[in-house]
Amino acid sequence: MKPAFSISFFVIALTTLLFLGASFLAQLTFKHFPSTKKYRAAIWLMVFLFLAVQLTAPALYRTWPSPPISVFAAQWFAYSTLGLFACFFIYHFFPVLIFKTWNRLQKRFFTKKPPVSMQIERRSFFTLSAFSFLSTSVGTYQAISGPGLKRVAIPIADLPAQLSDLKIVQISDLHIGPTIRESYIDRVIDLANTETPDLVVITGDLLDGTTEQIGDLVLRLNRLRARYGIYYITGNHEYYWGVDEWLGFLKANTPFKILLNEHAVIDINGQNLIIGGITDSSAARIKKEHEPNVTQAFEGCPKEGFKILLAHQPRHYDVANSLGVSLQLSGHTHAGQFFPWNLFVSIPFRYYRGLNRHENLWLYVSPGTGYWGPPMRFLIPAEVTSLRLAKATQPQKEL
Ligand SMILES: [Fe+2]
Repeated sequence: MKPAFSISFFVIALTTLLFLGASFLAQLTFKHFPSTKKYRAAIWLMVFLFLAVQLTAPALYRTWPSPPISVFAAQWFAYSTLGLFACFFIYHFFPVLIFKTWNRLQKRFFTKKPPVSMQIERRSFFTLSAFSFLSTSVGTYQAISGPGLKRVAIPIADLPAQLSDLKIVQISDLHIGPTIRESYIDRVIDLANTETPDLVVITGDLLDGTTEQIGDLVLRLNRLRARYGIYYITGNHEYYWGVDEWLGFLKANTPFKILLNEHAVIDINGQNLIIGGITDSSAARIKKEHEPNVTQAFEGCPKEGFKILLAHQPRHYDVANSLGVSLQLSGHTHAGQFFPWNLFVSIPFRYYRGLNRHENLWLYVSPGTGYWGPPMRFLIPAEVTSLRLAKATQPQKEL
């Protein structure tokens, strides 16, 4: 079953923002280039085409059960231009904002306003434009090159001896879909398998497409190997692409152990390892029964055991900590995905990247194994994370 495309609030809001952003950039070019009528018309035509591509390419992908190559090409074009636009906008908008604010303050508080020549403004415009092109090119290269392997040791004071050096490979936010395809997925699998992990955990946002469109790509993950199994939870994107159908597909065709507000217990040489998994924080908006619930996830679990929580979004850490969870594994934030968005992602998320300590809980937030939208990873590389439980050698304190 393919979900029907509908013009949602999200699409309208995004289109409005894109239009405002593109208009801002158009005005800037009018300021720095000869502003003839023909030139203005050409720029507005580009703005219109840009918006049309951003709307039609994802709509075509969503409605086409088996998209032809031209639809994939359109998606690549749409996402690449969106990435370039995002860089152009942010590298110009904030300097202009700061410059205008500074000018106003000068006007307000000083009698003489030091003149800023048009030449300096124009030079800044070209410098920032060059930086936008450069960061887009480097960011695209970083994204399409695929993830690297990141090894992280988790120091735990009271780690049971049986769990010492337990290796968990985390794959998060892979976003298999229109631009993340065979070679990218195979690289992820090879990196994970070379670690010979005890566990593999997939912490949501695995896909962007229907089972019909990308089912065969997702099945490539059956090549993943882990001594104690592969554990999977949903992210928000699973709910955009038919969560029931996907869960049925994964249950029938993969060895994934799916945790929907439930836990699994693994006996490792007499030591209980309890893995709880919750549904995505926003799941209930689409499927009411999938309201995430950490308490429910650990209900009925053995009293003694080392607890790990899988939660797509880096939230719920207070409840997890109060339930005696030692380690939470999350993703979702992409750590901003590319500079300078990493500077803003800390606004909605207290913990948004890497290893964090919250009272007695360790929380690792993956920056993502894939990417979403623009193929861009400027200064924030994607990773397959290899986490190793290690006995802490010194007292732990909050980071
Ligand atoms: Fe997500």
